Amino acid sequence: MYPIGLQTLLDAIRVNITSWSVAYLFALISFLAYVLPLWPEDDDKGVMLPGRLPFTIAPYFQRRFDFLHWGFEYTKQRIYRFRLLTNSVMVVSGDQGRMDFFNAKSLNLHEGFRVLSGALPFVQGVTVDLRERRIAQIYKRLAAVQKTERLTELIPEILGDCRRAMVSWGKAGRLEPFDGIYELAFQLSVRCVTCVEIADDPAVVLRLRKWYDQVDRGTTAATVLFPWFPSPAMLRKAYATKQIYSLVTNTIKVRKESGVPRDDTLQMLLDAGDDQLMIVGFIMGLLIAGARSTGNTASWLITFLGCHPEWRSKARLEVQQLIASSGTSSKATDSDIADVLSTIPVTAWETEAPVLDSLIHETLRISESHVAMRRNLGPTVHIDGKTLPSGSFALYPFSDVHLNPEFYSDPYQFDPSRPARKDGFEFLGWGAGRISCLGQRLAKLQLRLLTAMFVLNYDFQTVDDRGMPADPPPKPDWNDTLYCRPSNGQFFLDYRESDAGKA
Ligand code: HEM
Ligand SMILES: *[C@@H]1O[C@H](CO)[C@@H](O)[C@H](O)[C@H]1NC(C)=O
Repeated sequence: MYPIGLQTLLDAIRVNITSWSVAYLFALISFLAYVLPLWPEDDDKGVMLPGRLPFTIAPYFQRRFDFLHWGFEYTKQRIYRFRLLTNSVMVVSGDQGRMDFFNAKSLNLHEGFRVLSGALPFVQGVTVDLRERRIAQIYKRLAAVQKTERLTELIPEILGDCRRAMVSWGKAGRLEPFDGIYELAFQLSVRCVTCVEIADDPAVVLRLRKWYDQVDRGTTAATVLFPWFPSPAMLRKAYATKQIYSLVTNTIKVRKESGVPRDDTLQMLLDAGDDQLMIVGFIMGLLIAGARSTGNTASWLITFLGCHPEWRSKARLEVQQLIASSGTSSKATDSDIADVLSTIPVTAWETEAPVLDSLIHETLRISESHVAMRRNLGPTVHIDGKTLPSGSFALYPFSDVHLNPEFYSDPYQFDPSRPARKDGFEFLGWGAGRISCLGQRLAKLQLRLLTAMFVLNYDFQTVDDRGMPADPPPKPDWNDTLYCRPSNGQFFLDYRESDAGKA
């Protein structure tokens, strides 16, 4: 508000106004100042959306797809800006914009993510110190976890976790995929980036999952806009972060004191001489980076498979062929599916399973509601002709390509037979240009093994809450930036044990 302007206005009217009408006039002007004007004006940085008050950007946190989409409709531009408190944020779309965004050297993921999502947990003295140097160190260890030898060791453990889950599901039943499959995928992530003490104890894993959920859900508009305000979401988030922290540090302590080395990722970190801060950062950071995406992707993959019998049989056939070519199938009549699958080498999973690959690829295209977030840490860059000054932020919503009928006809249709698009960053499932997923090899292996176990173990189909075959099929909700769960109802997997794995 401009008090001086208001004074002038009142002077100009020069009528005998009562205090009541002053109040009224004041309210009206305040209202108009925020709602109508600040009319978008074009400049070399892109049109600015009107509005500065928290309520105008609350939808950015609550319904992100709708909010960003509305901005494009409102400004009729490929690139526009909005204000997030004191920050100006550029929202990018279009081919040139996408290329420039992902190729720009100075656009930094961590700074962008930290401010725009507010999702990183905060522990005094931990996350603050965990800046670039430590991040580089964590990534080095992550690369070590994904060496072929280490992945080879992880395969039977991952399959063992799948077997345990499937034993608990029994011979037939009904499963909520975004609960049951998600839980299994979370278990696999815990198995791969933590240690046996945690991964072998279902009660601890369950607690860990609840805490991670609280950390994720603790990111609301209020906690980002008023980080100093101890809102309930903020308190829960701080509490959950503290719990995760204590669990990890305690486990390290017990392991060190026992003096007994175990065969897991924690041991690898300890043997490499990493300090406690580094190990806590590794486990907390990578579970945040990987567990939710892997869980979402696994849940959607199995849900989609449950809607498409032809892809279920293709996937099953492919896994049976992998077993056959690994040479152990002849003796496998009575053996356990997990044991049989354990004999397939990492490289065979990676190079001889095109059906599983296309299932993962299509699942990511259609159900990864990601918005890439960056901060320009270098000098001014240009994105599709617009200026992004040093220090400011930019977003690129994956929906701009993945749900774009120009690239993917009938974009909401799950169709793994679509030709893979490789040029021009038209598929962003694992990132593009300067930033791509550093846990990709591990994540893909987990997804392939989980899917292989499920299709061999069960005949299944996706049903709605009345138990009828899902029609229309479940639709990913891109406004749900955390989980992308179905927007059109609740769905279940009806499953029954199959003989497929025994042949
Ligand atoms: C299905 C599962 C996963 C998907 C779909 C996925 C996808 C992605 C994407 C799209 C990015 C780039 C984000 C951007 O450009 O804004 C990314 C980055 C990253 N991912 Fe993943 N990810 C998955 C699992 C994992 C796992 C399991 C880990 C680690 C254990 C991991 C570690 C990372 C890291 C460290 C980065 C940041 C890379 C950097 O700083 O340059 N991800 N991931
Ligand atoms: C976002 O939510 C709106 C309703 O608010 C819905 O119509 C739309 O389909 C959702 N968008 C996506 C891509 O899920």
